[in-house]
Amino acid sequence: MEFDLAQTDALLSTTRAVRKRLDFEREVPDDVLLECLQLAVQAPTGSNRQGWRWMVVRDAEKKEALAELYREAGGAYLAEAAKTVEAGSQTDRVMDSANFLAQKLGEVPVMVIPLIIGRVDDDTTNTSAGLFGSIIPAIWSFQLALRSRGLGSTYTTLHLMKEQEAAELLGIPPHMTQAALLPVAYTKGTDFKPATRDPVHHITYLDTYKNPIKPE
Ligand SMILES: Cc1cc2nc3c(=O)[nH]c(=O)nc-3n(C[C@H](O)[C@H](O)[C@H](O)COP(=O)(O)O)c2cc1C
Repeated sequence: MEFDLAQTDALLSTTRAVRKRLDFEREVPDDVLLECLQLAVQAPTGSNRQGWRWMVVRDAEKKEALAELYREAGGAYLAEAAKTVEAGSQTDRVMDSANFLAQKLGEVPVMVIPLIIGRVDDDTTNTSAGLFGSIIPAIWSFQLALRSRGLGSTYTTLHLMKEQEAAELLGIPPHMTQAALLPVAYTKGTDFKPATRDPVHHITYLDTYKNPIKPE
């Protein structure tokens, strides 16, 4: 099978955190969500455990309650971070956009909370890498599948400071971990651009960390 590299590279390089361009008015049907989730569960998991579960939240009161938890948890962080960033920088734009999302979060058509069976009960790198590494690839695949269908999302984690309260609200059992909260909506337009990133040869090493790889 030959891939259309122009298409796949465009998908991989233009799937952005979408906040201000989420269409808060347009409904997101279940079949579109389920199609994207079906693609997401092609992702890898440690020992092929496939311990992912997906919580879809449409209930207006629950969405607003989650948004409130998000603001309680992250409001101070966002306000503080906004003060320290350089005006006009990429981070400044992200913070402005993040504050917008915090205010509007409860109004998104749908939220998706990716869950994974298990808890990090010790803090070894291997345990947390195994647990989160078995859900994050699927989350990213879900975001790519959304993007390819004209929808968008933002990977958010701020509400996890209030994970317990969110679990109670949604009846999530204690042996499960919430990995993120994704606001999901159609996007206003689909013309997203690649972000500015450092050339990878600045951050890639060959055989030893002392030896930055040289571009051809
Ligand atoms: C682990 C993780 C946690 C994040 N948490 C939040 C969050 O709580 N709120 C938010 O608005 N964005 C959050 N983001 C989105 C980042 O701000 C965003 O990915 C980054 O600014 C780069 O933008 P881009 O994805 O458009 O390239 C998170 C992203 C990741 C990977």
